[in-house]
Amino acid sequence: MSKDNRPYVVMQMSASVDGRIAFGPGLTMFDKHPAEELLLDAGPIWKKVTEAIHTEWHPQGTMMGSGTVISDQAPLRKLPTFSGDASVLYDDFLPEEVVAATRHWHILVDGRGRGRSGYKATENPGGHMVHLVSRSVPVEYLAFLRQERIPYLMGGQTHVDLTGALHKLYTKLGIRVMCLWGGGALNGAMLREGLIDEIHLILWPMLIGGRRTPTLADCDDLLPDRQPSVLQLVSAQVQEEGYLWLHYKVSNMLPIG
Ligand SMILES: NC(=O)c1ccc[n+]([C@@H]2O[C@H](COP(=O)([O-])OP(=O)(O)OC[C@H]3O[C@@H](n4cnc5c(N)ncnc54)[C@H](OP(=O)(O)O)[C@@H]3O)[C@@H](O)[C@H]2O)c1
Repeated sequence: MSKDNRPYVVMQMSASVDGRIAFGPGLTMFDKHPAEELLLDAGPIWKKVTEAIHTEWHPQGTMMGSGTVISDQAPLRKLPTFSGDASVLYDDFLPEEVVAATRHWHILVDGRGRGRSGYKATENPGGHMVHLVSRSVPVEYLAFLRQERIPYLMGGQTHVDLTGALHKLYTKLGIRVMCLWGGGALNGAMLREGLIDEIHLILWPMLIGGRRTPTLADCDDLLPDRQPSVLQLVSAQVQEEGYLWLHYKVSNMLPIG
């Protein structure tokens, strides 16, 4: 199941037929767009797919990107100045009592230190947040997470080192299977590092279009010496109201030649 001592990654996403995962740029999952009323049937199908994944895999984590929950335009919460020894904070923080009590990790990729609400996801029994952070985050942010007893894993200079972070999720938190819930930039970074193993894709019966609207995988263009990830179809199921549920396994991206 696991590859290179990292969790097996099952991506779950919904998208328009032209691959857009939102109605426009800069929207978080909490922003309401008027066109959302056209997607009334999407909620139950999303739940059905989630339940199917959980029944098959019992994932111990679900990962999301910071852009899905925090707008780039939103002003950052100011945190108290930290005056202690900063160097000790730039290391993993895994409070024992939190690790022992957690059965499902809500994983926020937050390489710039923008997740400052103190949200812990503890309303879900056995659930807890863990932030993946990079060395570029301000020390005040790390001090805040420690004060709130929110675990974090450190790795990467400006962005999170995703391969290293997945290895830590595997070795330090025991995550063997995790879900990837986007958004587009995180999916793209995961794709380029060959970290996606399976995809459950719900296709909305619509075209959205756009140049800056997030897509399923937003990242640098494929290099001439790289292959796209080839997918093997596991199943394709027609759902109510013209939705499609596509399930694929991902083949590794191998260099050409
Ligand atoms: N339809 C769906 O199923 C679905 C699901 C989820 C989200 N969405 C939508 O998708 C949109 C958000 O997507 P988005 O692309 O703007 O944001 P996003 O993917 O949620 O956030 C970007 C994330 O990618 C990380 N990242 C980018 N490049 C990286 C790299 N090279 N290495 C490591 N990490 C990297 C960023 O890290 P930093 O924190 O360091 O910047 C950040 O965590 C929202 O509209 C949301 O509602 C739709």
